[in-house]
Amino acid sequence: MKKTLLMSLVLAGSLIAADYSSVIQHPDASKLIQKDLLPPAKHFKMPANCVTTNSESIARGAFLFHNLNGKKAKKNPPKGLSRKQMKPGKTYLPGDKIPSKQYGNCIACHDIEGSVGPGNVGPSLVGYKKMFVDSGVRDAQFVYQQIADARALNPESLMTINLANGLFSSSEVCDLTSYILAPK
Ligand code: HEC
Repeated sequence: MKKTLLMSLVLAGSLIAADYSSVIQHPDASKLIQKDLLPPAKHFKMPANCVTTNSESIARGAFLFHNLNGKKAKKNPPKGLSRKQMKPGKTYLPGDKIPSKQYGNCIACHDIEGSVGPGNVGPSLVGYKKMFVDSGVRDAQFVYQQIADARALNPESLMTINLANGLFSSSEVCDLTSYILAPK
């Protein structure tokens, strides 16, 4: 008896229920995912104005290499690098919070001279200049490309992408390249 009553209530409910199908949003999931996908792997040419021996550039590269972001960095960033950065394309009104700038955190995967608690997912970059650059095995263009978008050299790369996705500008990739190539 109880069951029949329940059934008829449900039936009656469904008969009088309004049709809400038009107000339910059906976003195209494939389009939403598209927005989060990485751009395809890209080859970059190191800009002609990237002078890898510039000491200010090397200092910025070192800072980007060893720090995670502008909020966590203990020391003040060197000349030409800020702790905060506006997101490109976003309008900020007075009083709006400007997000802290994301740095490279390369130390999470690579050891290098003077590192503190480096990770080992990536190869050690200790002695890099002498071992790989002075010997002619690697050059600045290779290092620049690796930092810009490692997938162009190895589609299965585990390394973070830094230029193809707009995380860094080409001059910041130049800063990092300069730091890797610098004598330490
Ligand atoms: C998530 C781990 C990870 C992070 C973070 C990372 N790398 Fe790498 N890196 C790798 C791996 C793994 C390789 C080996 C090549 C490959 O898999 O593409 C590599 C290779 C390299 C090489 C090439 C070495 C050679 O001569 O073969 C350079 C230079 C380099 N990384 C610099 C950097 C810099 C600069 C940063 C920070 C902006 C960074 N890496 C961040 C994992 C990482």
